[in-house]
Amino acid sequence: MTDFKEALKTRRTFAIISHPDAGKTTLTEQLLLHGGVIREAGTVKGRGAKKLASSDWMAIEQQRGISVTSSVLQFDYDGKRINILDTPGHEDFSEDTYRTLMAVDSVVMVVDAAKGIEPQTKKLFEIVSKRGIPVFTFFNKIDRDARAPLDLVDELESTLGIQAFPMNWPIGSGQILQGIYDLRQKELIPFKNASDHPEVMQDGMDEVELLEDAGNDFDTEAVAKGKLTPVFFGSALANFGVTEFLEQYLSYAPQPAGIETVDDEKVLPDSDQFSAFVFKIQANMDPRHRDRIAFARIVSGEFKKGMDVTLSRTGKKLRLANVTQFMAEERENVQDAVPGDIIGIYDTGNFQIGDTIYSGKKPITYPDLPTFTPEYFNKVIAKDVMKQKSYHKGITQLVQEGTIQLYKAWNSNEYILGAVGQLQFEVFKFRMENEYNVAIQFEPIGSKVARWVDPEQVDQKMASSRNLLVKDRYDRPVFLFENQFAMNWFKDKYPDVDLEAKM
Ligand code: G4P
Repeated sequence: MTDFKEALKTRRTFAIISHPDAGKTTLTEQLLLHGGVIREAGTVKGRGAKKLASSDWMAIEQQRGISVTSSVLQFDYDGKRINILDTPGHEDFSEDTYRTLMAVDSVVMVVDAAKGIEPQTKKLFEIVSKRGIPVFTFFNKIDRDARAPLDLVDELESTLGIQAFPMNWPIGSGQILQGIYDLRQKELIPFKNASDHPEVMQDGMDEVELLEDAGNDFDTEAVAKGKLTPVFFGSALANFGVTEFLEQYLSYAPQPAGIETVDDEKVLPDSDQFSAFVFKIQANMDPRHRDRIAFARIVSGEFKKGMDVTLSRTGKKLRLANVTQFMAEERENVQDAVPGDIIGIYDTGNFQIGDTIYSGKKPITYPDLPTFTPEYFNKVIAKDVMKQKSYHKGITQLVQEGTIQLYKAWNSNEYILGAVGQLQFEVFKFRMENEYNVAIQFEPIGSKVARWVDPEQVDQKMASSRNLLVKDRYDRPVFLFENQFAMNWFKDKYPDVDLEAKM
């Protein structure tokens, strides 16, 4: 193979963020068509799944062979190798999505041009913008009646607090769509079958002129820092503007960059020392084998099948013999991979989310992935007391996987689960039943405000019915306040106790 230092320059690793229904699946499919990995639209498996009731959705999710092959999609285009990291398409937020966004070098934001910026787009954008990575915007569905493009761009800038730079501009939309004007090449790309509307054309070109007069420079540095988003218009469904988008995206999206370790040392991708971090763990991908796969993003060096690495958290040495990569719909056994690539390591219980692995002698540890303060809590009980063993095993594994967060009541060791969204509980229950054969019951304790406290400062007497005292899975004390008022009341009463929103 070519030198990995050359190969890594071709890698473009990104995720698509959007509000449900904006067209993420459709755009992904078009990109795969461009890469020649699928031959017709409508073939991405699991499509439409999110539109089913949540129980159906879980039944599909259960067929891990399907959803996992689509969790990393890889294809080649124009001398580049593209890795698309899929983020769960469901409306309910999962922490998986957040963590996946920590493993990409850029993000494509798909927005429905009839709707503009919707809540989930905003939420995801906020996570991404903290990382300061490039964001490319694709206003989709211009083959339908869309809002005025100036409006959309204004809203984008004001709602998300990022500068926008139009790369192309739609001339009309829906029935009267004439085409898109490429502001960089200065040419119109006509929409196939467009019916002639000279006045629409005129208005559109007037706008284009205004934009050109405004003449902001395309500041590639601002793009690289995530301060300026290149904006494209098109229709994923009609495959209009997608090729132009892909090509421009590839010319401005960054290749893999270095990451700082916990010791503030920057590890560069072309370092000879291999390193990677685990951002996702999925258990029981194949129900017959009870296997787990740890998804690791390669940060530096070259991965070679069978190589020896150290797991930095435990110091344990591991041989990476059984590793897969995901080429569209097939799992392939991977021989070598480079920074920017995602490898799936078969795991027998060694890994946790956020773990770093490295080759060679010099220890490397990347910072922990962010955890999110759960907002919903449920007590959990096994319905059948005879199944305690499977019950504990199931909880332990699913918690390690990061599916849900586990707490225990301070005194009784009762299990309490916390999650960012309600759906995570349903998934948990479903998987306990289907993968561990344990029926469980929830006793809702509602939404809470979770705050970590210093063990030195905590006193059992501080707990009350309005602030439940629990411990997290590392036995650190946490108060679960009934609401903001209960928390403020607590603060007044115990002004010396520091309350931390994150562990
Ligand atoms: P998502 O993954 O972001 O949730 O969206 P998805 O691609 O599934 O698209 C949601 C709906 O919007 C689908 O229609 C899809 O066909 C449609 N769509 C996507 N891109 C475009 C576009 O550029 N133009 C138009 N007109 N429609 C688009 P659906 O009827 O809900 O689903 P389906 O039955 O077509 O699969």
